[in-house]
Amino acid sequence: MSSEFERVAVIGSGIMGSGIALVLAKAGIAVNIVDVDQKYLDSGSQNIEDFLNNSIKKGKITDKEVNSLKNNIHPLLSLNEATKDIQLVIEAITEDENAKKQLFEELDPMCESSVIFATNTSAINISELAMATKRSDKFLGMHFFNPPALMNLVEVIEGEKTSTETIEKIISLCTFLGKTPVPSKEAPGFIVNRLLWMFLNEAYKLLENEIAAKEHIDKAIKLGLNHPMGPFELSDYIGLDVVLDIGKYIENQLGGEYKPANLLRKMVKEGKLGRKTSKGFYDY
Ligand code: NAI
Repeated sequence: MSSEFERVAVIGSGIMGSGIALVLAKAGIAVNIVDVDQKYLDSGSQNIEDFLNNSIKKGKITDKEVNSLKNNIHPLLSLNEATKDIQLVIEAITEDENAKKQLFEELDPMCESSVIFATNTSAINISELAMATKRSDKFLGMHFFNPPALMNLVEVIEGEKTSTETIEKIISLCTFLGKTPVPSKEAPGFIVNRLLWMFLNEAYKLLENEIAAKEHIDKAIKLGLNHPMGPFELSDYIGLDVVLDIGKYIENQLGGEYKPANLLRKMVKEGKLGRKTSKGFYDY
């Protein structure tokens, strides 16, 4: 089986960009990965290296497969170079609407008119971003989950002007990558983050109101709903700042009932962001 996407530019070499590059390269697709500084490219390459070393240890991949996979990944600092002979751009830069718009504006004249633009944004309006380009019909959301190499879901988000052909091509690509695409129209938080936000925010309110201890809420959700992690464990894993950003965006778009709990705001203010700062709802 082959894909019509032979070379893809992934912009942003952070947690998501490097993970998405790995998924594409594993499927035999050439990836040009771009960041603004060599140190970020190096850190993305290190993420990939760590994941592959772990996979070798677990016997999930051979040295030979690792070598051919690595040969498919080309870290670059130049957008011009990275957009040569590509069929798709996947944008995975920082979650900042203006930065993303500026990037798409810059990319648009560099790429052939046939090139599809996908954004991995967690919540920003797809049609707004598409307006930075002259290819709204070839613009959509391709929302991978963290870590992309392990999580099967990709939400495929249709903007107001995205063509059916674009959606179909990306759905086939997701399947080719071994992922499960779920199509959705655009709405704040799409499917998963919209529901996740309400779920986590209600858990914070239960704790705030001293209805139950965090350990007990986590245990109840794991046993009662068969979730692998409770809401506080999951929040610490995602990062409380990231959760708050999602919540604030959804509140801003949909109104007061989505307002983030005070407890979450307080913890972010105190720098208790979860695993990445060794302190969140739990200590690490
Ligand atoms: P990150 O902060 O780890 O990586 C972002 C990278 O983009 C950084 O290396 C930064 O230097 C680079 N960058 C910023 N501006 C750039 C530009 N103009 N050109 C090239 N590179 C640029 O962020 P992360 O977590 O990988 O998130 C990326 C996107 O994916 C965001 O839109 C986020 O909302 C979304 N996302 C994040 C998930 C997560 O769990 N972290 C899950 C799903 C989506």
